[in-house]
Amino acid sequence: MATNIVWHQHEINKDTRGESLGQKPRVLWLTGLSGSGKSTLANLLEKKLHEQGKHTYLLDGDNVRHGLCGDLGFSDKDRVENIRRISEVAKLFVDSGMVVLTAFISPFQADRDFCRNLLADSEFIEVFVDTPLEVCEQRDPKGLYKKARSGEIKHFTGIDSTYEAPQSPEVHLQYQDEPAEQTAERLFNLLEEKGLL
Ligand code: ADX
Repeated sequence: MATNIVWHQHEINKDTRGESLGQKPRVLWLTGLSGSGKSTLANLLEKKLHEQGKHTYLLDGDNVRHGLCGDLGFSDKDRVENIRRISEVAKLFVDSGMVVLTAFISPFQADRDFCRNLLADSEFIEVFVDTPLEVCEQRDPKGLYKKARSGEIKHFTGIDSTYEAPQSPEVHLQYQDEPAEQTAERLFNLLEEKGLL
């Protein structure tokens, strides 16, 4: 634990950076089961925001686990640490003026709340990508559910590791049979209607 350190107040801050980028910095936090479509939707949503001239950055579970969180596994303790690091990184990106999109299972409400509490009011937008387990398992894009069912992978979310559905997300997006482009469009419209962009 670091001691004897003092926070420096810089003159160029989140507000000035956001203003010069012409946007309100924030985090669009997508949570849901593996295979729910978080990464696909985050990618499509980022494209839409980009077309609108927004300055964005996408933090994605599988990618972050190649680097920053490459030392972490999938025990509850490691998942908590994973989300803690990502939350701190997301906060830095928000401070830099960006609109941040995240795509992590982030199975625990307390960890999602941790990120919410790091940020100012209305900067954290929780999006529940609500795809039923059966549908995720049928999609099984990486063949991981099959491995989890056969016991080859342990602590798999939804099989032998918990997923706590969001209690009061800003957006609850049901996503089953529809094409991804249409769902991303729906998500974009929902965010806009609610004044969250
Ligand atoms: S989180 O629980 O810590 O938020 P994260 O989103 O970073 O998870 O990583 C999830 C991705 O890791 C999944 O999409 C899947 O591809 C892969 N994965 C590998 N093992 C597991 C596991 N035991 N449980 C869930 N996902 C796993």
